[in-house]
Amino acid sequence: MTKTSFPLPMQYLGSKQRIASWVVDEIAKAFPGTENMVDLMSGSGAIAHEASMRGWNIHANDIQPYSHQVLRSAFETPREELQEIVEWLEEGALDGMILCGDRSRAEAALLEEDQFTANAYEGTFDWRDYSQFCERFSGRYSGATGNYDLFLAYYPNTYFGVRQCLEIDAIREKAAQSSLDNATHLIAALISGLTFVASTTTHLAQFLKPTSHSTALNLIKRRSQSVQGHVLECLKNLINYPMPDITSTSNAPFQAVLAERIFDPTKTVVYADPPYFKEHYSRYYHVLDTLALYDYPDLTFNNRLGSVTVGRYRSDRIVSDFGLRSKVADTFQQMFCLAWKNDLQMALSYASTSLLSADRIIDLAESAGYETELRQIELRHSGQGQVRTKSDVTEYLFLLRHAH
Ligand SMILES: C[S@@+](CC[C@H](N)C(=O)[O-])C[C@H]1O[C@@H](n2cnc3c(N)ncnc32)[C@H](O)[C@@H]1O
Repeated sequence: MTKTSFPLPMQYLGSKQRIASWVVDEIAKAFPGTENMVDLMSGSGAIAHEASMRGWNIHANDIQPYSHQVLRSAFETPREELQEIVEWLEEGALDGMILCGDRSRAEAALLEEDQFTANAYEGTFDWRDYSQFCERFSGRYSGATGNYDLFLAYYPNTYFGVRQCLEIDAIREKAAQSSLDNATHLIAALISGLTFVASTTTHLAQFLKPTSHSTALNLIKRRSQSVQGHVLECLKNLINYPMPDITSTSNAPFQAVLAERIFDPTKTVVYADPPYFKEHYSRYYHVLDTLALYDYPDLTFNNRLGSVTVGRYRSDRIVSDFGLRSKVADTFQQMFCLAWKNDLQMALSYASTSLLSADRIIDLAESAGYETELRQIELRHSGQGQVRTKSDVTEYLFLLRHAH
């Protein structure tokens, strides 16, 4: 039998997808009576998925709204009505919506983009013309009307192409016309899709620019990827994705989750996978938060440039204490103390390249009352031989035993 894949995959920094079965195996061996997992910083949901596939009940939490949207769709929201939306997309009905209402102002730009795409595949693409087009039509966020035109106003020819922005806004409009459950799934599928089709390399803190023939050609081809195609694929996979018997999600700082008694602590492991270094997920994935919230946010301003910051970041981004050198040790200590006070077994992922050393983590866990064991696995980056390189990391798994 083939293993069920997660229906809403994300290209996500720090995702544990590649080592998920190792992590959950080690947890199951260390804590044989486990029936429930609290995935405290669940991100793309890779560990909650693995735990759920083993029949464990789960609670999946993350502080970022985009992540919670995905978790809520995968682990909590009924799918009974989803077939309706699948059929609607399969009929091609979205195409009739993309230039509706205030999005009609992009008609000429869409035609122009379509022509560049055709030229790219026919070998007649002029990258300088495309670069000028990107300059000319790069959004004017102050011109947003608020009528399902957020991506068209904020991000065309930056993180996405013109057609992609129109598709995103139209799907967001369709979500608003749908039942709450279907809206949750549509937005989650969009979030998943955007991590694959965006005009970026890995994360969404910066976008690629057409600075040469090859980069421009690569860009226009990326921008010809269909957003709705990815959404449709996710929704079809969601319909058959099994949910655990007992399952819930939340969108909170970890302290709020640890303060609640979600499951019987004697059968529960809390898995924590905090950010490893000064990477603020709210910066890397600001566009996804804006998609989830769809709130036409203020953007950060660059005084030196005298304009909006090149990356077009939302100004109200969440700052995680795990990413602040001055606060990271205290934050770990707070997490261990709270979990210990609630009688919880814990497992913690962290890496050799992180802000705190393995010894420091062990000191902090033991001073909170835990007995600690350390497991580790080498994470190789693909395409390499036997030689260890700078991009290789040792992934740690700390098993923190509460003697009860
Ligand atoms: C390394 S990633 C987790 C990856 C996840 N295990 C996966 O497989 O995708 C760290 C996550 O911690 C979340 N996070 C950061 N600070 C947090 C906090 N104070 N409370 C809850 N979640 C937090 C981030 O939003 C991010 O998704």
